[in-house]
Parts: sequence; C-alpha cells; structure tokens
Amino acid sequence: MKGIVLAGGSGTRLHPITQAVSKQLLPVYDKPMIYYPISVLMLAGIREILIISTPSDLPNFRRLLGDGSQYGLSFSFAEQPSPNGLAEAFVIGADFVGDDPVALILGDNIFYGQGFSTTLRTAAQDLAGCVLFGYQVKDPQRYGVGEVDEHGKLVSIEEKPAHPRSNNAITGLYFYDNEVVDISRNLKPSARGELEITDVNLAYLRRDRAQLIELSRGFAWLDTGTHDSMLEAGQFVQVLEHRTGVRIACLEEVALKMGFISADECYALGTKLAKSGYGEYVMNVARVAGSTG
Ligand code: DAU
Repeated sequence: MKGIVLAGGSGTRLHPITQAVSKQLLPVYDKPMIYYPISVLMLAGIREILIISTPSDLPNFRRLLGDGSQYGLSFSFAEQPSPNGLAEAFVIGADFVGDDPVALILGDNIFYGQGFSTTLRTAAQDLAGCVLFGYQVKDPQRYGVGEVDEHGKLVSIEEKPAHPRSNNAITGLYFYDNEVVDISRNLKPSARGELEITDVNLAYLRRDRAQLIELSRGFAWLDTGTHDSMLEAGQFVQVLEHRTGVRIACLEEVALKMGFISADECYALGTKLAKSGYGEYVMNVARVAGSTG
C-alpha cells in the first residue's frame, strides 16, 4: 500500500502565522505537525509516501524530510498549485499510486490511542473498497459525517451537514483500493469548486464498498484548525510525553520499532539532533534497543 500526506492549503484560519510558513510545518510541542500523520502511515506499515504541498512550501518539506531513506522510507514530493480539494491528491498522485491501494492522510490531523497500529494494519490488510475512520465529536457539522445502522454498517455520508444524522465525524485518514484514482479523475468539482473527498466516499458507499471503523472514546483525534486548538494539541502532547517519558510520533523511534532501521542507524540519527532533548531521546531509544553507540 502507498501513502499520501496532503499538506497544502492556504492556512488562512491561522493567519498571520501561516503567511510565511506552511501550517503543516508548525510545531506541535516538540516536532513539526507533519511528523504526526507520517507516523500514522508508518504504523500502518507503509514505506512509500508522497508528500503533496504548495509550490512555495514544498522545498521546505524536502529540506525537513529528505528522501526518507534515513527512516527506511521513500519520500516523493508533488505540487498542488491551488487548493482544489482533497480528492485532487489522487489525480496529482496517480503515477505514484500506480496499481496499488493507497492511504491518504491530511497533514494537519493528529491521532493518538492504544492499539492504533493494530487497527491500521488490520484495515490495510483486509482492504476491500474504502475504509474510513469515525470519531465522536460534539460539533459534527464542522466535518464529514458518517451514519451507521444498528449492525455497524455505514449507511450515509454527508459533508458538513447543517443537521448531522450522527456525531460521528469522518477523520482525515482514508484507505482506498486502486479504484480511487479513476473515481477521483471522474469527479465533478463541488459548488465550492473542489474535488471533494466526501464525493469519493459516496461513490464507494453507492457500490456498497465503504466501511467506517469507529475510533473508541479512549482515543484522541486532535484538531489543529484554530490558534486555540493548535495550542491545545501541543499541550496534549506535552502532558502525555512528560507523564510517560515516551514521545508520540517520533519518526526515528517508529522506524526502529517497525524494523525499518537498525538500532545503530537510529542512534546515528539521534546524534545529529543531540543538542535537543528530542535527539537525546532518540539516542536513548536506540541504546535500549541494543545500539552500542
Ligand atoms: O479533518 C477532517 C475533515 O477534513 C473531514 O471530516 C471532511 O470531510 C473533509 O472535507 C476535511 O474537511 P476540512 O474542512 O478540514 O477541509 P479543509 O479544506 O480545511 O482541508 C483540510 C486540510 O487539507 C487543510 O490542512 C488544508 C489541506 N488541503 C485542503 C484542500 C482543500 C490541501 O492540502 N489541499 C486542498 O486542496
């Protein structure tokens, strides 16, 4: 399975912060925002990842992430000149996706919860059609909303409905079989001129090939859409990391745990960042895993 991180958009809701810097490069406590969605794809076992952003921001993502080989990954990069909708990711990324299934994750979505890697790997392995991930929120009218019947079957999907049929927001993580490329290519732009991901999901629903996995109450899906929610997301990560001593979405650690890099390679990555607590953490994780560095 391939992975795409969509990290474009104009970030107008965070102006003036995002006037000169991409939203997805802003810090969420101790690391850039895009680390969080990249770690999710890695936990799903995905190693080939396309990063899509604006022509002006893309060079900064390349500078931060390199070609991915340091994490045992392969990063590709592609431009989205204007924010024409989330589903445009599959048109821009068609050659990258090739004949494979693909996971799309929005570059500003943060997920955290026990058992998430298992959920992700199971969903990726058993994929037939599309898999969406639902999360209970108090303000569903701000999101795509999924409704399931009493057997857990997905029966409706609506984008930002004024009168939501459920509190189940559809999060910014989507797994699709290869049909998604053709479906996206044939989409008509919506009234707001975008290729809507909800229209892709509706195409799967009509074919009875859409499934919603509900993320449980103990799970965190964090928003970074406003100044307050950005700060709260950073505080959430800070509290968890301070309490447990374990870092969330540390790409070096995830690569090590997934077997993408060795303990010595992980240690070497830590030494490059040794002046920060983050780098020291990476070195320590590598030592515990057997690096003699
Ligand atoms: O976060 C989950 C929600 O994401 C879903 O529940 C909705 O169904 C889905 O439409 C989307 O809603 P948003 O209102 O959050 O979409 P927004 O246009 O804000 O875009 C989400 C992120 O994707 C944002 O960081 C900007 C980026 N983006 C957006 C568009 C439209 C792009 O990179 N390219 C684009 O063309």
